[in-house]
Amino acid sequence: MQRDYWNRLSPAYQRIMEISVDDFHFGPQIPGDSRLGILPPLAAGARALELGCGGGQNSVFLAKRGLECHAIDISREQLAHARALARREGVRVSFRLSPIEEFGGKVAGLFDLIHSSHAFEFLDDPAAAIGECASRLAPGGTLVISTVHPLYNGEWVDNIDEDGNPCGMGLFLSNYFSPPDDIRRSGGKVDVISRAWPVSSWFNWLRTAGLDVTALSEPAEQKDGVPPYTSADWADNEGELAAIPGTLILAAKKPHVR
Ligand SMILES: C[S@@+](CC[C@H](N)C(=O)[O-])C[C@H]1O[C@@H](n2cnc3c(N)ncnc32)[C@H](O)[C@@H]1O
Repeated sequence: MQRDYWNRLSPAYQRIMEISVDDFHFGPQIPGDSRLGILPPLAAGARALELGCGGGQNSVFLAKRGLECHAIDISREQLAHARALARREGVRVSFRLSPIEEFGGKVAGLFDLIHSSHAFEFLDDPAAAIGECASRLAPGGTLVISTVHPLYNGEWVDNIDEDGNPCGMGLFLSNYFSPPDDIRRSGGKVDVISRAWPVSSWFNWLRTAGLDVTALSEPAEQKDGVPPYTSADWADNEGELAAIPGTLILAAKKPHVR
């Protein structure tokens, strides 16, 4: 289901989205790491692994800074774009076709950085994937996940006052502890489901995996300049992303053996 959806979507996705290779992005319309400063300091030669790399822009960004980059995605089409981008940018990234759920058997060794931008919402069991990430981090290594914020899976409603005049937007979220799934359909069939989880769930999954949470960020949209991940549609979000976060970012470090 995931694979077919992303293979079909990939050409339009890579054409429409404007994703920079000159900054590390976390999600649509929000500032990149040059402003947020969430990535740990990483020396040239450090090993990085990207999960659900899509067009590979973040791995290409890191490879341009001398990191040894590995990346996986479930979609052949997305990986074809990623490989072409790395060639154009003149960097080496080792791309592999693999579901995140199986990455442990597809890439070897330990990593100083494991990162994933807007792919964990497509997993049924993010906690299991976090556990596997923790086991593949080098001591002192960092896991950085950005994913859909639970508030973003609410429904936007145009509020009107008693005279029928617009009085600003409101957000309807029936249950924060179990945010509604974002179910994408085509031809009456379910294509893919994007799931959001409460912020505390992410925090607890990282702690249960033995990691120390070092950053938690819910950025508002970037107002000035061009964000590193944008599109005409994302830019035209009618103020939603100024009012609630669309992306939740967490970073967590594997402690050195004490
Ligand atoms: C919204 S895109 C984000 C792509 C990229 N990380 C970025 O920030 O531009 C989600 C990506 O996750 C990939 N994906 C979805 N489910 C996956 C899974 N179970 N295993 C591996 N990749 C997956 C899709 O193929 C797609 O490339």
